[in-house]
Amino acid sequence: MKKLFAVLGDPIGHSMSPIMHNDLFSYYEIDAAYHPFQVKNEDLKTAIQGLKTIGISGFNVTVPHKSSIIPLLDDVDNLAKQIGAVNTVVNEDGKLVGYNTDGLGFLRGLTAYIPSIVDRKVLIIGAGGAARAIYFTLAYNKPRVIDLANRTVGKAEELIKACPVMVESRALSLEDASNHLKDYDVIIQTTTIGMSPNSSEQPIVIANLNHQALVCDIIYNPLETKLLKEAKQKGASTQNGLDMFIYQGALAFEKWTGISPDVQRMKENVLKQLGGTQNVNR
Ligand code: ATR
Repeated sequence: MKKLFAVLGDPIGHSMSPIMHNDLFSYYEIDAAYHPFQVKNEDLKTAIQGLKTIGISGFNVTVPHKSSIIPLLDDVDNLAKQIGAVNTVVNEDGKLVGYNTDGLGFLRGLTAYIPSIVDRKVLIIGAGGAARAIYFTLAYNKPRVIDLANRTVGKAEELIKACPVMVESRALSLEDASNHLKDYDVIIQTTTIGMSPNSSEQPIVIANLNHQALVCDIIYNPLETKLLKEAKQKGASTQNGLDMFIYQGALAFEKWTGISPDVQRMKENVLKQLGGTQNVNR
């Protein structure tokens, strides 16, 4: 019987995940279909019960359901529990089990640019859900420092307190971080600033950027944010948000099928779609 996979979110119309996963199912000759479902907050519980009843094989969850889905699942993996968000659900013998592949997806993408973050000095800009997934995941990988800079410094402080792993971290204002930017080897921008249609915005002044730094922006619409453009002009290496998106999807696909998919193919497929659309999300 054909297997069913899905992504739940609200809005969901511009999600790239169905295109990405349906292409993989056909490429690996798996009899399965992946469908987007727009689910309102108040309908999430009923939707999950329905998907479980019909025997869905797995699904992704996106904004605004990544945290609220946790109590509705049968089990949640430890890292996802710590992050407090689930983006991938696997039907394991009738039990819906939640995982978070966002942080690990980011880390996998990063390894194409730097072999490891061991002993690196990292700055994360932002202290929202995406920052939390990346911070907690990186913290397990022995960087020397991970500082967090945020408009609301108190939120960065809270995130540092909540981190399950011992790592040297300071909460900074955006201005403080900007003044000390040369101290960092890796800078990771996780806020929505610079995302289309506000692509002329930038979260931080980068006059003090270390020219040998790697600057990552998790935004992939536009593919090159103002921040990345300026960082490149200063001679730094840059990485856009496409890798994180591709690898979180690749890790989900791997959990569902046991197949480690061809990420180059996934990237080309998504890039082709991005050429024809302006507003995309997961
Ligand atoms: P996500 O789940 O995508 O990370 P989020 O949890 O809403 O989204 O977090 C958004 C992040 O972008 C936060 O760090 C937020 O800063 P605050 O904690 O101060 O709200 C940051 N952000 C959003 N708009 C911003 C703006 N105009 N200026 C500075 N920071 C902004």
